[in-house]
Amino acid sequence: MNVVRLTSDYVLTAFDCGDSDLNEFLLEDAKHFLEKRIANTFILEDNGCIAAYFCLLNDKVSRVEVTNSRWKKIKDSFPEGKRFRSYPAIKIGRFAVSKEYQDRNIGSMLLDLLKDQLNTQVSQSAFRFITVDAYLSAIHFYQKNGFVELSLKEEDEHTRLMFFDMMELG
Ligand SMILES: CC(C)(COP(=O)(O)OP(=O)(O)OC[C@H]1O[C@@H](n2cnc3c(N)ncnc32)[C@H](O)[C@@H]1OP(=O)(O)O)[C@@H](O)C(=O)NCCC(=O)NCCS
Repeated sequence: MNVVRLTSDYVLTAFDCGDSDLNEFLLEDAKHFLEKRIANTFILEDNGCIAAYFCLLNDKVSRVEVTNSRWKKIKDSFPEGKRFRSYPAIKIGRFAVSKEYQDRNIGSMLLDLLKDQLNTQVSQSAFRFITVDAYLSAIHFYQKNGFVELSLKEEDEHTRLMFFDMMELG
């Protein structure tokens, strides 16, 4: 298995993770997002099949989106004088594992790989958190992988904002 970055000439084959929005995004929208510089997509290939994919884009964790108690914890992790109304983040825009590959630790392995690459890769731009708008059905999966709910508010009935603090990696 290997992870490749989606390019405009990549030949996309069938993909079914059981969620039509996520399937359609990969097959119909991902290249437009790439061209318009909205999000980059990465594909986990296995013997010519698409086993999983995810997208990345820039983000921020800001005061207005977070519950008071969670914001206090975030704020307390920064020293006096380094406390701001928002902190830089990278967002997982989409994350999906193909049905045949689900529940085999592929999603968790892919998140570990992503955290590791983001941690070690020399990047021009700093960020502190990885964020994701988790489907309610996937909250348990992200919790298992070290993500914490940022907002407990039921603002969106389908998703919940979650984050992973890169400082957890030491
Ligand atoms: C959620 C998802 C990414 C997890 O990837 P995965 O490779 O199946 O997960 P792993 O094998 O690494 O981890 C297993 C955990 O994932 C969760 N999980 C497995 N299949 C799932 C599914 N179809 N939907 C939601 N969660 C699922 C379970 O909670 C499981 O935990 P458990 O072992 O304690 O029961 C994958 O199942 C998927 O793509 N589902 C459909 C699309 C989706 O919900 N994407 C997330 C959008 S935010």
